[in-house]
Amino acid sequence: MRPEAVPGRVIVVPGSASRGLGKRLAACSGAALAAVESRRFPDGEAYVRIDHDLRGENVVVVQTTAPDANLVEHLLLLDAAREAGARRVVSVAPYYGYSRQDKRFRDGEPVSARAVARSISGLADSFVTVDIHADSALSFFTVPAANVTPVGPFAEYLRSLRVDLILAPDKGALARSEMIARAVGCRWEHLEKRRVDSEHVTLTPKELDVRGRRVAIVDDIISTGGTILAATKALRHQGAAWVAAACTHGLFIGGALDKLKEACDHVIASDSIDGPASVVSVAVPVAEALKAEPS
Ligand code: R5P
Repeated sequence: MRPEAVPGRVIVVPGSASRGLGKRLAACSGAALAAVESRRFPDGEAYVRIDHDLRGENVVVVQTTAPDANLVEHLLLLDAAREAGARRVVSVAPYYGYSRQDKRFRDGEPVSARAVARSISGLADSFVTVDIHADSALSFFTVPAANVTPVGPFAEYLRSLRVDLILAPDKGALARSEMIARAVGCRWEHLEKRRVDSEHVTLTPKELDVRGRRVAIVDDIISTGGTILAATKALRHQGAAWVAAACTHGLFIGGALDKLKEACDHVIASDSIDGPASVVSVAVPVAEALKAEPS
């Protein structure tokens, strides 16, 4: 069913971590872009101010929620939009931090993804994110929450690189890899991963038909790079001619980007987290999701 059009103007309010994406989102959705002042008080606390008349408007706050300082800024911007008289406030977290702690793995732990979801739900009318680690985390929101899978932009980029195969490093990444591979028009495969510790993983050996082929490993997040490095090693060992590392959310912790650039032929991330590898934009699929917002 065709989503209802949102009456009134749409104003995109970008946080300091998502300025580039905010600008692209406003441009591709025909929305206005608000000027935002974001700085720190001398004690390190965040200060934000939205320099735009938001009375009666539909406001879209765009700000990745990791690391913690960006999460706080996100919450403050939602509050500022409400204070300024916005008619509707939509929270867009292109990367939803804390999504990996989506259950209590050990006694005494929080369900962090739920704690953050409840904080956002108290300030926004709805929530949109991109490639959330597990869809089940959307149920933690008490306002409508949607997840966007940026198949189109990734498929377009990977097609231009003439990729023969898309490899999911684990079963959790398979559905996304399959969707992208279908859009590219190439094969897909997956590996079985076991996490040893936060930096190391083991991959169950599997024969892949990759000799002389161009392969893109596609995951939701690259954090330490351990997953992609192990998959790259397996692919090289089996004779892949060219290997790309692609992810939606490039956290690239502790020199991971340099290690990946050394091991792979190409490193690709989206602008859900702005960085030197952000060559794919999620602006268009996020704009599509916003069109489906209720008025
Ligand atoms: C885990 O299940 C995720 O989908 C990623 O595979 C993981 O977060 C990547 O982390 P790292 O880069 O540290 O291996």
